[in-house]
Amino acid sequence: MSENLTELTDKIISCEACHLKEGRTQVVPGIYGPKSSLCFIGEAPGYYEDKEGVPFVGRSGKLLDKMLEGINLVKQRDLSILNIIKCRPTTEEGNNRTPNEKELRFCGERWLHKQLNFLSPKMIVTLGGVALKFFSPNTSVTKTAGKMINTDSNYQIFVMYHPAYILRNYNLMEEYNSQFESIKQVLNSKLVELSLSEKEQQKTPKQKGEQKSLTDFL
Ligand code: URA
Repeated sequence: MSENLTELTDKIISCEACHLKEGRTQVVPGIYGPKSSLCFIGEAPGYYEDKEGVPFVGRSGKLLDKMLEGINLVKQRDLSILNIIKCRPTTEEGNNRTPNEKELRFCGERWLHKQLNFLSPKMIVTLGGVALKFFSPNTSVTKTAGKMINTDSNYQIFVMYHPAYILRNYNLMEEYNSQFESIKQVLNSKLVELSLSEKEQQKTPKQKGEQKSLTDFL
């Protein structure tokens, strides 16, 4: 019998495949939105995510929530949020640290790829350089932030700064706002494309008054 997303998530939660298990409180598998919608991908859980078992709940997560709210998107309802690495990487002193290339490949290939196979997102948004490196090792975030890029993967990738980087460089806030606006525009253009093809195929229209979120259209 083939595995479903819940079974895959259970396996992720009990993963003991690498040394990162030693520094973690718990595994942070991610939050799933609807299939074929947007998927935001960060690097790894930090202190607060490790405590709560949920991605992006610390300061950078609060900024991300605010930016999403500005374009009428809500985690889980409209999009998935995952990290490449599922366990918090720590220094010997117990602080957060950036995951290294080997950790990134190992965890990403073991788990993230399988999650993406289930979710089959129409568009992936990478948050920061580490997430981008996983999909496109030689691409610079500063040169491509706010743009769609071509990669060898099957996914359309939209590059964004990591919210933690914006918290340290508040002068980039205006640019960050316009990156979120670009996501909104991509979603809206997909909405138009899809409503046309719906008409062509004469699908049954939704009941009057039935709510659709933006990403229903992706
Ligand atoms: N930074 C990330 O990249 N992911 C998180 O879940 C939290 C902070």
